[in-house]
Amino acid sequence: MDVAVTDHLLTTTRSVRKRLDLSRPVPKELLLDCIRVAQQAPTGGNRQGWHWLVVTDPAKREALADLYREAAGGYFEARLAALAEATGPQAQTARVYDSALYLRDHLHEVPVHVVPCLAGRVDGQPNGVAAGFYGSILPAVWSFMLAARARGLGTVWTSLHLGREQDAAEILGIPDDVSQVALIPVAYFTGTDFRPVERPPVEQIVSWDVWSDAGR
Ligand SMILES: Cc1cc2nc3c(=O)[nH]c(=O)nc-3n(C[C@H](O)[C@H](O)[C@H](O)COP(=O)(O)O)c2cc1C
Repeated sequence: MDVAVTDHLLTTTRSVRKRLDLSRPVPKELLLDCIRVAQQAPTGGNRQGWHWLVVTDPAKREALADLYREAAGGYFEARLAALAEATGPQAQTARVYDSALYLRDHLHEVPVHVVPCLAGRVDGQPNGVAAGFYGSILPAVWSFMLAARARGLGTVWTSLHLGREQDAAEILGIPDDVSQVALIPVAYFTGTDFRPVERPPVEQIVSWDVWSDAGR
């Protein structure tokens, strides 16, 4: 395995919002290829139970984008105003909110919305149950995003629409005993490549053998 290529993929797969090509259709076979890759991800007890709802219908994308916009409300504008004078890592966060605002207003134009779903619900259950449940689909979703990136497709993990999960379930015909875990907008990306972003030194977030508050 080529470590340099793998590390490049892992360190430069970014949230793509402003660089999504809204005018170029995405072939269904390419999406199926990405989901085939994602199917190799681990699940607790090999439960699998995944269902990938791939939404290309314009009316349904419009309805999901409406829910997303309603759930977001004025949150991004408020965060941007609060970070207006930000520098350093906070300036990076301000750029994320600016980009998120763009996505909020253009989500209906993104040619594909992927809603990964998992059979079951963990509403109100203990952390161990919730961790096992969500841990059984989140690696697959990230695999999907990595596979997409390798094929020239941009993605961004979004969770805001889950504030209106029931309404989205009605739009998409998702049964009551199934959980939606994200909404991933997918489109070809524009430009050539992406760069790693600034993160804190790794030592700040690692303890050896006993918890340390060094990085907090
Ligand atoms: C669990 C989760 C939920 C997220 N929800 C949203 C969202 O609703 N809308 C959005 O625009 N970005 C969302 N993001 C993307 C983050 O804002 C983004 O990953 C983060 O700012 C870092 O940017 P990068 O991925 O380019 O490094 C989410 C990411 C994760 C992991």
